[in-house]
Amino acid sequence: MLATQGLQAFYGDAQALFGIDFTLAPGEVVAVIGANGAGKSTFLKCLTGLVKAPRDAVRFRGEGIGGLPPGEIVRRGVGMVPEGRRLFPSLSVEENLLVGASARRPGPWNLRRIYQLFPVLQEKRRNPGTALSGGQQQMVAIGRALMANPEVLLCDELSLGLAPIVIQEIYRALPRLTQEGMTVVIVEQDVQTAQRVSQRLYCFQEGRVSLAAASTQVTREQVSRAYFGV
Ligand SMILES: Nc1ncnc2c1ncn2[C@@H]1O[C@H](COP(=O)(O)OP(=O)(O)OP(=O)(O)O)[C@@H](O)[C@H]1O
Ligand SMILES: [Mg+2]
Repeated sequence: MLATQGLQAFYGDAQALFGIDFTLAPGEVVAVIGANGAGKSTFLKCLTGLVKAPRDAVRFRGEGIGGLPPGEIVRRGVGMVPEGRRLFPSLSVEENLLVGASARRPGPWNLRRIYQLFPVLQEKRRNPGTALSGGQQQMVAIGRALMANPEVLLCDELSLGLAPIVIQEIYRALPRLTQEGMTVVIVEQDVQTAQRVSQRLYCFQEGRVSLAAASTQVTREQVSRAYFGV
């Protein structure tokens, strides 16, 4: 469904990705793990057009999408929950959600469904997005991406800065997304969470894939070797 082949990425002269081969099948949850600076966010940004990539290095439903404008990629069905949530501070929760609907595609997600998924957002729907707790803001960020009815949802560090119980609450939404036919990529620093919620995982190390495996089959030793390179 979504794949990269030999994907390289650069910031000016500095190379961040050195030939990433990645595949994603419909309905899968795939995790990307790796240390700080390994290239996880850069990888997601290449999938969404925020970092330039050669057209055919990123393929979605058989077509090259590398380097297309981000809005075009959203309209084709690739949605992203960015690192750090990035809510609009002057907008209410509901207005933030509606921003996501500007690239709206046909599909099951609408305000009512988002509020079913995260009931606390309905209670807070008139509050400024930034007046919420970190976990609630993350729910808004997820809901905003869902409002566009993506086929693939890319999530960058959903758990960053959140308490373990809140992380669990966020990740409880995942099975409900996949039941709706959503395909999901999660970037996650917490290896245990990543293994628990995904079917397959990729570990990145210094811009390269150091491990690609079924999540239940990798050992702790394999992961730490792939993670730290020791
Ligand atoms: N805007 C940028 N300009 C220049 N270099 C960048 C930029 N963003 C990232 N990099 C560099 O690219 C490399 C990969 O960074 P990236 O943010 O993709 O890593 P990451 O795996 O997401 O890390 P983290 O876990 O800290 O979020 C790093 O060496 C980083 O310093
Ligand atoms: Mg990152």
